[in-house]
Formats: sequence, structure tokens, C-alpha cells
Amino acid sequence: MREAGGKVALVTGGGRRIGAAISRALARGGYIVVPTYRSGRGEALRIAAEIGGNALPLDLSRPSTFARFAERLEREHGRLDLLVHSAAVFPRTPLSTVTPAGWDEVFAVNLRGPCLLTRALFPLMRRGAGVCFVGDAGARDLWPAYLPYCLSKIALEAFAAGLAEAAPRDIRVGVVRPGLVLPPPGFPRERWERLRGSSRRRGIRTPEGVARAILRFAGGEGIISKLSP
Ligand SMILES: NC(=O)c1ccc[n+]([C@@H]2O[C@H](COP(=O)([O-])OP(=O)(O)OC[C@H]3O[C@@H](n4cnc5c(N)ncnc54)[C@H](OP(=O)(O)O)[C@@H]3O)[C@@H](O)[C@H]2O)c1
Repeated sequence: MREAGGKVALVTGGGRRIGAAISRALARGGYIVVPTYRSGRGEALRIAAEIGGNALPLDLSRPSTFARFAERLEREHGRLDLLVHSAAVFPRTPLSTVTPAGWDEVFAVNLRGPCLLTRALFPLMRRGAGVCFVGDAGARDLWPAYLPYCLSKIALEAFAAGLAEAAPRDIRVGVVRPGLVLPPPGFPRERWERLRGSSRRRGIRTPEGVARAILRFAGGEGIISKLSP
């Protein structure tokens, strides 16, 4: 254990983009932050060095590794006060071309991973600990080219609602729904701006806004928003 007594937050995918903003905000909020990475080791290590946390590798598509990950977190930090599920994949997967493996990958990373990781980390959580899921305000628009992604985010929110009922001890559950925050790499800039300009688009619009919502949740504000469409 490194710093006995300090509150510990784990941020999956906390080394870059929205996840990095969440890591920074939680560190400013007094947490010892553990960002996780899969391929972005360098970025995650840089964020960890900047905020004084330590980055850990985690592949959400490999649930057989979660028990070992939980043991490591316990060994290095001894507790978990806030678990933020920010990591996700967002591949273009139109129904006409999506493969079974492509479909499964989206659900493995975006849904099964967060669900089973939460379960594996429950023993480290104390009374009053929080679990916060990063959903997507646009998921219910069911974008045709991203149908598995949208379905995985809707299911993740449903899982959060179930968890809020069934969580052991006094564990708080929240969902944050970003809107169009950052374009996926390679997404045409003009199209992105057009989408953002559309009045139908909802949700939080900046990485810092997402991070602030999570800080409010960490501070005790309930943000399980209405889960029905
Ligand atoms: N960007 C937006 O406008 C937007 C809008 C609505 C909702 N969201 C949600 O906000 C969250 C963050 O979005 P973002 O755009 O910042 O994401 P991003 O840039 O695509 O980053 C995703 C993160 O997930 C991690 N990741 C991917 N596959 C993984 C795996 N198998 N195991 C563990 N980690 C894995 C990546 O880690 P490595 O880089 O280390 O591989 C990366 O840190 C996501 O949940 C997303 O669905 C984003």
C-alpha cells in the first residue's frame, strides 16, 4: 500500500482524452488516482506522473485477469473509494459488414468488462464507495453505423440501474452521459461540427464537464439520471 488513508480512485481508460480529464479532476479533488491503460502505456504513465498516481495495465476484454488486477490494486493501495468506468471502444460497425468477432469485441469491452470488473473490485470497496459508468447521451439514437456500440451503452446503463438496487453494503452507483465531446480519430472535422451544431444532440460537451459531473458524484450528488428513454 502506498499512502494509507488517502481516498483511491480507479479510472479505466484514464490515460487519455476524456479519461485523462477525469483522472486530473479527481487528483485535484484529493484522490490518489490510478488510471488504467491497454495500449496507451506512455500516455497513461505521463498522466500518472503529472497527477502523482500510478498507472496500471488492464484489458477489459480479458476477465480472467480481473482477480489478479484486484489483488494488485489491493497490494498497492489497499482500498478503492471510486471506480470510474470510462474505457470503451467505438468502432464503425454497420450491420451490413459487422463480423461476429467485431460485435463481440464491443460488448466484451463496453459491457462485460465493466460489469465483471466491478464485481471483482467489490471486496476493496468500503461503505460509501462509488461506481460511476460513462454512458453516452446519443446511444438511444441508435446510430446505424455504430449499433453494437449504442446497444452496449444502453445495456451498461441498465446494468448500472440493476447494480444500484443490488450493490452490496452502501455502494453508490452513478451514470454520466457525455454528448458529442471529442471526435474519434480520423472523423471528418466538418461533419463533427455539423453534428455538434444539431439541436437534437444532448449531453455534456467537454472532457472537463464530464470530469466535473464525476467529481460531483464522488462528492455525494446522485447522478443516476432517468434511465428510460
Ligand atoms: N468522445 C466522445 O465524444 C464521447 C461521447 C459520448 C460518450 N463517450 C464515452 O466516454 C468515454 C471516453 O471516451 P473517449 O472518446 O475519451 O475514449 P477513447 O479516446 O476512445 O479512449 C478509450 C479508452 O478506452 C481504453 N480501452 C480501449 N479498449 C480497451 C480494453 N480492451 N481494455 C481496457 N481499456 C481499453 C483505451 O485505452 P488505451 O488507449 O490504453 O488502449 C482508452 O484509454 C467512453 O466510454 C465513451 O464511450 C465519449
